[in-house]
Amino acid sequence: MNSMNTTQKYVAKTLFGLEDVLAEELAGLEADNISVSKRAVYFEGDEELLYLANLSLRTCLRILKPIKIFKAANPEILYKNVVKYNWHELISNDDTLVIDSVVNSEFFKHSKYAALKVKDAILDEIRKAKGKRPNIDIENPTYRINVHIEKNNCTISLDSSGESLHKRGYRIMSEKAPLNEVLAAGMIQLSGWDGNSNFIDLMCGSGTLVIEAALFANNIAPNLNRKHFGFMNWSSFDENVFKKVKQKLFTEQKKFNKKIIANDISKSAIKSAQANAEKAEVNKFISFNNDDFVNFQYDLEPGIVITNPPYGERLKHIDIIQFYKKIGDTLKKQFTGFDVWILSANKEALKQIGLRTSRKLMLYNGALECKFHKYEMYKGSKKAKFKSDK
Ligand SMILES: C[S@@+](CC[C@H](N)C(=O)[O-])C[C@H]1O[C@@H](n2cnc3c(N)ncnc32)[C@H](O)[C@@H]1O
Repeated sequence: MNSMNTTQKYVAKTLFGLEDVLAEELAGLEADNISVSKRAVYFEGDEELLYLANLSLRTCLRILKPIKIFKAANPEILYKNVVKYNWHELISNDDTLVIDSVVNSEFFKHSKYAALKVKDAILDEIRKAKGKRPNIDIENPTYRINVHIEKNNCTISLDSSGESLHKRGYRIMSEKAPLNEVLAAGMIQLSGWDGNSNFIDLMCGSGTLVIEAALFANNIAPNLNRKHFGFMNWSSFDENVFKKVKQKLFTEQKKFNKKIIANDISKSAIKSAQANAEKAEVNKFISFNNDDFVNFQYDLEPGIVITNPPYGERLKHIDIIQFYKKIGDTLKKQFTGFDVWILSANKEALKQIGLRTSRKLMLYNGALECKFHKYEMYKGSKKAKFKSDK
């Protein structure tokens, strides 16, 4: 593979609802031929761009490099197509591999079986060519190979990221129900916050939103400190180019001069958020506050509130309804001039906020379908403020 200066096709995977944000991020990196698909964005570029994308994309889970695309409507045809590729030219006997599979097809009921067929085909081809087969390593493979089957369309790709890019490495302490880092980064970018005004999370939990906000506002690449990416094991890996890309990202960091505030009623959440922010090296940009959001006092010019309240799984219906009413009342009283975004899977409770939503988006927090609603807390016009949510 001599792909350092050759243009390759890549697929950047993301979460539902973040495809357009990811496409914009890729456009910012000057990727070519960007096109949006379901939970994925296709793009083209050389291997230097691949390094840059892995280090700096905030809303990307992993970047795949397709190496074989074909049609197969049963496991035998899948095997026949995979065994035809010269895997031995790519993977040596000393390498290890693992196969990930995502299958959405009536022809392949079990994704694990499809993965097994692909594994057999790759190992058989290498054994035939070299007399010995490489080993499987689930934890730390040299090559992570991705099988994607949609109906009878099969794509076999090399995974350039390795471990998912949402694992930034800063979450050393966890609280209940933390947001995926990619989702938090996506919420911030969907909100349109440009990093030039104050940012508040009233219920910060382990601090994902404020940490992602600090990384974004300072233009710090989210995976700049990560030690390992899948592409580092590829024979084409060029360490000098990788170092050059990292250096460029360091020099592009900005200085944020507004405030980021993380509030939570739980002492332990504030402790976790602080520890995580320190690990992410952004604690100096964040002020931590341990209080009920209804008492939250600030002395700063308006900016944005993005928050992810409890959804009420563990609360009585009446309590969660009251809780969301309190959110609405507090916003009305204390957050004039702010743009407020709330992510919640509890649609009934969200209605109790009692403010007019100016944007309604849909996202998934894990398997939970969520609403991501915007409220503009205008000065004056009570009428607009009190119009109830539909
Ligand atoms: C869904 S979690 C937030 C998770 C967070 N986004 C993260 O990524 O870790 C909701 C948080 O709301 C906090 N909370 C609940 N009631 C609160 C209140 N009255 N005032 C402030 N925080 C509250 C909880 O302690 C919890 O940390």
